[in-house]
Amino acid sequence: MNIAIDGPAGAGKSTIAKRLAKELGFIYVDTGAMYRAMALYFLKHQMDASDEEEISRASEAVDISIRYQDGEQQVLLNGENVNGKIRSEEVGNMASSTSVYPKVRKKLVALQQKLAADADVIMDGRDIGTCVLPDAEVKIYLTASANTRAKRRYDELRAKGEACDLAAIQEDIEARDYRDMHREESPLRQAKDAVCLDSSDMTVEEVVEKIRSICRERN
Ligand code: DC
Repeated sequence: MNIAIDGPAGAGKSTIAKRLAKELGFIYVDTGAMYRAMALYFLKHQMDASDEEEISRASEAVDISIRYQDGEQQVLLNGENVNGKIRSEEVGNMASSTSVYPKVRKKLVALQQKLAADADVIMDGRDIGTCVLPDAEVKIYLTASANTRAKRRYDELRAKGEACDLAAIQEDIEARDYRDMHREESPLRQAKDAVCLDSSDMTVEEVVEKIRSICRERN
């Protein structure tokens, strides 16, 4: 059984997916982390996100793989574990800008489909229900207002003691939504057979319970 969760940045996909994966004994696959690992490579080599030819060539040469350690997904970039290096806004924005290219997507989609063929997975991203796992038994489109998502990110950064500006975070989120939803190749959109959940006024537990009940219905 496979569960697909798609939605915009900051909707709570990874928090929810991790909780459900633990509970159901599924493997959690964070596909954004793969696009981020690629983006880290492009940044390290000072590549220009708008140069499709250069980015496409590099994406074919780079090796991205996944390993699980104590149930946690680790992303390896050319054999190096880069989990600790991919969470910055800079890497997230580079991932959003370079995930528009078909060559980048082709390579990572193949890796994601292989992971799902080998195990029961709960996978989150932007194109899981529409493209990566079109036959997933359960598809969720998890969203929340841009304002709610910006506030969540702001609270997270403040809790870590980082200086940040709520308006700037919201602007960044809206720009990323626009890019992810308007690209030509596998844009972020709700699959026809996905259930849409707006988490703006829901607790994590409420969202988890809702998905649990959808899984029970489909099983
Ligand atoms: O979920 P995230 O913020 O880690 O994803 C970073 C970027 O990667 C996101 O803005 C768009 C891209 N991405 C994608 O195009 N397809 C996916 N399945 C997952 C992420």
